[in-house]
Amino acid sequence: MEKLNPTKRDNFGSKLGVVAAAAGSAIGLGNIWKFPYITGVYGGGAFLFVYLGFILAIGLPIMLSEFVIGRKGGRNPFGAFKKLAPNTPWKYVGLMGVAAAFMILSFYGVIAGWSIEYVIKSLGNQFHEKSPAELNTLFSTFQESTITPVLFQLLFMVATGAIVMIGIKKGIEKFSKILMPVLVLIIIILDVKALSLDGAAEGLRFLFYPDFSKLTSEGVLSALGHAFFTLSLGMGTIITYGSYINKKNNLIHTAIQVTVADTVIALLAGIAIFPAVFAFGIEEASGPGLVFITLPNVFELMPGGYFFSILFFVLLTIAALTSSISILEVAVSYFSEELKIKRRNATILATVLISFLGILCSLSMGIMKDVTFFDLNFFDLLDWISANMLLPLGGMFIALFTGWYLGRKKIKDEILHGGYISKFFLNGFLFLVKILAPVAIAVVFLHGIGLISF
Ligand code: PFF
Repeated sequence: MEKLNPTKRDNFGSKLGVVAAAAGSAIGLGNIWKFPYITGVYGGGAFLFVYLGFILAIGLPIMLSEFVIGRKGGRNPFGAFKKLAPNTPWKYVGLMGVAAAFMILSFYGVIAGWSIEYVIKSLGNQFHEKSPAELNTLFSTFQESTITPVLFQLLFMVATGAIVMIGIKKGIEKFSKILMPVLVLIIIILDVKALSLDGAAEGLRFLFYPDFSKLTSEGVLSALGHAFFTLSLGMGTIITYGSYINKKNNLIHTAIQVTVADTVIALLAGIAIFPAVFAFGIEEASGPGLVFITLPNVFELMPGGYFFSILFFVLLTIAALTSSISILEVAVSYFSEELKIKRRNATILATVLISFLGILCSLSMGIMKDVTFFDLNFFDLLDWISANMLLPLGGMFIALFTGWYLGRKKIKDEILHGGYISKFFLNGFLFLVKILAPVAIAVVFLHGIGLISF
């Protein structure tokens, strides 16, 4: 019989639960909203090519590193570093992750709020018989308004806080397992429709044909930042989830499954969006509104489009929720385990603080548009600092920690609990985390911010 232990932490119930929850964290607005929008801004195929390279050579090994650190440390990121590397500054990597969590969730909640608004617009059949230009105006009028986007952002934050309060297993695991597959199905249906449109070939060419003359160093840095963002890496989310995984789980399989699922969904989203962008003459570099402007055009043309649009935005909101709970969890587990605040109060505190920052993000699209820092509004600033700075730097330290501090034997022991690792794979992994990933991140980062140039 299992001994009762009052300090025992909640665990994921099953193998599928782990993959589903980690995939639930990875798959979200990053895949369906952000990936198409930044691919549009940075010129298409070449950006995609670089992004996929980063996912494989940097994202995947760092995901495995986070799982190893998390399961071995058994704590929130700050606590895990403190336990695995006592009396060293490594714990501050965990703290940087908490800061990133605050920033990301602030603007993430705004976009999720837009998604809720689009559920309501869908229910009211508001896309019906509107031209592409009218759908564009529908979006920009809403986005620039003051009250409604803030209210929906707050609603989303309350939902996120409530799920985190219920606890890991019941809240997160149940949600993710059922709903993610339905979302994938809808995106595939959208793909089929998008591919039948007149502009399909041009859209696919934009997405897949790599024209490297369009690539800028900022684009490369954004591809790197997005590889971290989309896989939920660099800020300890996967460390936190790893701490809830039991020893029987095969960490390598889990890391590969999550990475592949996340990448496939981003590609499916791109295939749904770019053909439609070209078919309806939408500016591919429209920015954060791209998905909200493009997809209603597609729904308008589909039989049953009314229902599909409702279902799509409901599921997009839920995909956002399974990610946002994982972001909030980083802050909450830090507050409750390190600052010894009751979990419930920690959740309330983090949710309130983040919601406040989120209001500023939302207003920076409208009445606070002119308040800029380095030419970026508040929303873009938080997005830029977190995705393009904190996550890559966090990822670099996580790779260095795994490769140089934990080292071969400890990594191997942790992986061997529930899996097998060949010498070849282990050597390859060590090379990536000790050398390739840190050097590549440092070079891309310094080049992207203009400190070095070739
Ligand atoms: N990966 C999520 C997405 O693609 O929507 C966003 C995210 C979740 C980023 C968790 C970072 C994180 F720690």
